Amino acid sequence: VWTALNTNKKLTEARRVRDCGGERVLSRDISRGYEAVPITCVNGVDSEPCPENFKYIPDNCVTSPVNINKDITHLQHCSCKDNCSSSNCVCGQLSLQCWYDSGRLPLDFCQREPPVLFECNHVCSCWRTCRNRVVQNGIRVRLQLYRTQTMGWGVRAMQDIPQGTFICEYVGEVISDAEADKRENDSFLFTLDDKVGDVHCIDGRLYGNIGRFINHLCEPNILAVRVFTMHQDLRFPRIAFFSSRPIKSGDQLGFDYGDHYWKVKSKYFSCQCGSLKCRHSAASIQTPDHAACCCDASSSFTVCPVLVSAAASAATAATSASAA
Ligand SMILES: C[S@@+](CC[C@H](N)C(=O)[O-])C[C@H]1O[C@@H](n2cnc3c(N)ncnc32)[C@H](O)[C@@H]1O
Ligand SMILES: [Zn+2]
Ligand SMILES: [Zn+2]
Ligand SMILES: [Zn+2]
Ligand SMILES: [Zn+2]
Repeated sequence: VWTALNTNKKLTEARRVRDCGGERVLSRDISRGYEAVPITCVNGVDSEPCPENFKYIPDNCVTSPVNINKDITHLQHCSCKDNCSSSNCVCGQLSLQCWYDSGRLPLDFCQREPPVLFECNHVCSCWRTCRNRVVQNGIRVRLQLYRTQTMGWGVRAMQDIPQGTFICEYVGEVISDAEADKRENDSFLFTLDDKVGDVHCIDGRLYGNIGRFINHLCEPNILAVRVFTMHQDLRFPRIAFFSSRPIKSGDQLGFDYGDHYWKVKSKYFSCQCGSLKCRHSAASIQTPDHAACCCDASSSFTVCPVLVSAAASAATAATSASAA
């Protein structure tokens, strides 16, 4: 009886959605005006209401002491008198070079191993408008939270976006790996593993921004880059997503959660990205060459920090092995 009632509810909802010509607008701005551009929420798939089981926050937060070093006297800064477009800019040099060109990353920006970016800060001599500031300016592109057919909520572009554009940050609670270990829901954990072995995570489960809704795509169109803005404590980079190729209005945004994520999660569910090149679908997991395609253990999106640390050691071991 329950199944019949449920099926009936779904059919009624599908008919309602079809009759009113598509999607219901559930929120005109899930950020409540905290972002420079509104982020609407729509559902044209089922009767799920706008997600309210988390608090939208525009910047990372803490709920327990994690001691981020914000000492202003430790901030490296530039003495530029221009807009930081010369090779003398110390902030640009810290990032290897100032990568931003008219607010975008160039086509030759290394996507395999993106450099860490140091944006100008309040101690620099330049103006707030200098060239070396993008992530600190916040979201500028039109995004929408929408109900996908197969992956729950997802995020799509509401405008064409050229390659190299800043999309949004992955915002949440900054927590230690010990704290992450204690948490039951690992669906919104992003690892900030620095190479020093001091692992922290960003948990978007209870507090987060639009980034917490971005799904995994086997053919990703965005890329996570570590960025420092107002502090330079290397254990706590900001995670900024940039478009890794041109994106069309209406396209779903997605990044690669990493092979390690899927190695663990495929026991519970398979990838629903729908791509012909999907590497983690139920069908592709059963193919004998699956093990070969999953040899890269690098993962940024987290299952459980302990497993990720193990993966990081494995990756380091693998890298050392291949280098040897
Ligand atoms: C960071 S959340 C993304 C937002 C999520 N879809 C939601 O409705 O809140 C990660 C979760 O989304 C789902 N997900 C993301 N990418 C997926 C994919 N490619 N295939 C299946 N499920 C996916 C999984 O349930 C995963 O635990
Ligand atoms: Zn400068
Ligand atoms: Zn500057
Ligand atoms: Zn500077
Ligand atoms: Zn896939």
